[in-house]
Amino acid sequence: MLGQQLVAVFAGEGLTALDQNELDITHEAQAREKIVRLKPDVIINAAAYTDVDGAETQREAALAVNEMGVRNVALAAKDAGARLVHYSTDYVFPDVSQEGYREDDVPGPAVNVYGESKLAGERALAEAGPEYFLLRTAWLYGPGGKNFVDTMLRLGAERRELEVVDDQHGSPTFTKDLAGVTREILSGDFAPGVYHTVNAGVTTWYEFAQEIFRVAGLTVAVKPVGSDQFPRPARRPAYSVLLNTKGPVLRPWQEALAEYLS
Ligand SMILES: NC(=O)c1ccc[n+]([C@@H]2O[C@H](COP(=O)([O-])OP(=O)(O)OC[C@H]3O[C@@H](n4cnc5c(N)ncnc54)[C@H](OP(=O)(O)O)[C@@H]3O)[C@@H](O)[C@H]2O)c1
Repeated sequence: MLGQQLVAVFAGEGLTALDQNELDITHEAQAREKIVRLKPDVIINAAAYTDVDGAETQREAALAVNEMGVRNVALAAKDAGARLVHYSTDYVFPDVSQEGYREDDVPGPAVNVYGESKLAGERALAEAGPEYFLLRTAWLYGPGGKNFVDTMLRLGAERRELEVVDDQHGSPTFTKDLAGVTREILSGDFAPGVYHTVNAGVTTWYEFAQEIFRVAGLTVAVKPVGSDQFPRPARRPAYSVLLNTKGPVLRPWQEALAEYLS
């Protein structure tokens, strides 16, 4: 989902885009050799194991991509002398905050296995030692991938009533905006380090669904329910909002959503 938007945003800037068939980041020697041979100035790693519920039973598969894969790419970046952009998640934080998390808050213990694997990746990145930009993000949607907005549009076309969770808070983020801010950070005076890159504002899945239906012109009665009504394999945090205290400010999530739906 994000990779496709990066390809669009960096079009015409000498980008080489590789999918999993062309570059499997879990194959250490191949991945390093292939990346170094390209002599990149910048490497952007949008590859990840992203099945949050699946990770609960597929821990090794999640770690293979999200920890070992990241280590391989980071070592290749170090070898090539390239700057590396990598993406992580609010799930690296525990579910204990009521204000959200800053870039300099120490992550862990993660809220679920996927979060653990992404946190292991953050550490592997730092240990490998390339110049890196770690962009944590959340609640992504956009063209080309399974996401909440598309799911709501599909369900909204089928049903008149829907129950949606209202006790989890976050910042819905458009992949187009995340790709754009990646370019902004790389081309501006931003120091390497951790950034929290989410669209501005905080909402719940319930309010997000209401806004999706309002903008899309669908008449659906949305009923707020607790997370206990939708048991899932992986725990989700109640308030893991990513506070952006140092990076470029992204537009409000409602504006980004309106563009996506238009
Ligand atoms: N989606 C969210 O809500 C969310 C929230 C917070 C953070 N993030 C982070 O944001 C980044 C982008 O997420 P996304 O939603 O765009 O993910 P996505 O749509 O699931 O895309 C991940 C891509 O990684 C590829 N991939 C998986 N294993 C690979 C491997 N071994 N080698 C090379 N490529 C591999 C996948 O290929 P296949 O399609 O062939 O499997 C897929 O194209 C990830 O780092 C993710 O952890 C996402």
